[in-house]
Amino acid sequence: MISNQLTKGLHGEVTVPGDKSISHRAVMFGAIANGLTQVTNFLQGADCLSTIDCFRKLGINIENTADKIIVHGKGLHGLSAPSSTLDAGNSGTTTRLISGILAAQPFVTTLTGDSSIQKRPMKRIMEPLSMMGADIISLNGNDCAPLQITGKPLRGIHYHSKVASAQVKSAILLAGLYADEATKVTEPVLSRNHSEIMLRYFGADVHTEGTTALIQPHPQLNGQSVNVPGDISSAAYFIAAGLCVPHSEILIKNVGINPTRNGIIKAAIAMGGNITLLNENHDGEPTADILVKSSDLHGITIEGDMIPTLIDEIPIINIMAVVANGTTIIKDAAELKVKESDRITVMTENLRAMGAEITAAEDGMVIEGGKPLHGAIIDSYADHRIAMSFAVASLLADGETTIKGRDCVTISYPSFYQDFETLRR
Ligand code: S3P
Repeated sequence: MISNQLTKGLHGEVTVPGDKSISHRAVMFGAIANGLTQVTNFLQGADCLSTIDCFRKLGINIENTADKIIVHGKGLHGLSAPSSTLDAGNSGTTTRLISGILAAQPFVTTLTGDSSIQKRPMKRIMEPLSMMGADIISLNGNDCAPLQITGKPLRGIHYHSKVASAQVKSAILLAGLYADEATKVTEPVLSRNHSEIMLRYFGADVHTEGTTALIQPHPQLNGQSVNVPGDISSAAYFIAAGLCVPHSEILIKNVGINPTRNGIIKAAIAMGGNITLLNENHDGEPTADILVKSSDLHGITIEGDMIPTLIDEIPIINIMAVVANGTTIIKDAAELKVKESDRITVMTENLRAMGAEITAAEDGMVIEGGKPLHGAIIDSYADHRIAMSFAVASLLADGETTIKGRDCVTISYPSFYQDFETLRR
């Protein structure tokens, strides 16, 4: 139960855990590189631990010490057949990216995950990987996990993806490492580019132009040191709370601000948010400290190219929209329906329970801001981003809010509730 006695606002500094997308990739690329990869500020969330678990089952020694992860990479051809099914847990990134690697291995792997993963669409990777020559089948015949992947010699293709998805793009680029010639992926709108950046850092030949990425096969990948920036998707909850809770001022330290991920900052500023970036660093993945002060927000329209840059932040943007003046329209975001939960339905149901005015659409939602919120019983549907969004909403509501399944924050931010407490005075 969370109650809101925040007359003095939220104050202080917070350091959010490492970026989830980058943490996954550091382990995966380290496993298929030669030599050691050392990862600092690795996200010790359940999703990234699933990635470690899968690669351990594929014969990779991964040390998880107090301050770093050490991956003992075995090169592009060093993985060995697992003796049991790989379990990706709740992680779409693990499931889809690892499939690109497994598609080329000289063995058969079965890959599954929790009940949410077993409902998420895998045809989006099965189709391109099959075009490259992989043998990949959905064991329940529903285009979802469990998947059985029989590695095959692969051919390079030029794939035009219907969805802007970094998971799809990355799966194809990883398979492309093993293909007979160059592999290209073109997406309708640019999705996050962490794979392109990090694969290049590990020694791959990756070229990008607009929304197309091209990779050359059979590079010599070498282990590297990766210092993971703070996750902007986790910082988003503090950005929203700092803007929406009156009399607040929060400094969020060392956050990744890659332009393919920083839509939350742009959207919040467009809504009238008082946000300042400090200590910007543009070596490799760009980072900054983010200073947020309480602001009067107004509604905006978010659509098109902007959507992939803030796709995981739409639940918390919904909360900002509810307290903003005027209408917020979110469109071109049908992908929300196939995330850890159907985030269009779940946000609509839960926000209505708190008294908000929200209408679901096929590809987003429309919110009439400015209606007072009251406490309610919220169902997170085991979706970490829903639980964290409503923890922020509870601070803006009259009365008490209960979030069912609140512990699912361990997926991406195990110390979320404790970190929030440090800002209350
Ligand atoms: C991710 C890509 C996004 C995002 C997910 C992480 C990644 O998914 O929603 O949380 O690490 O590549 P899609 O690629 O399906 O859009």
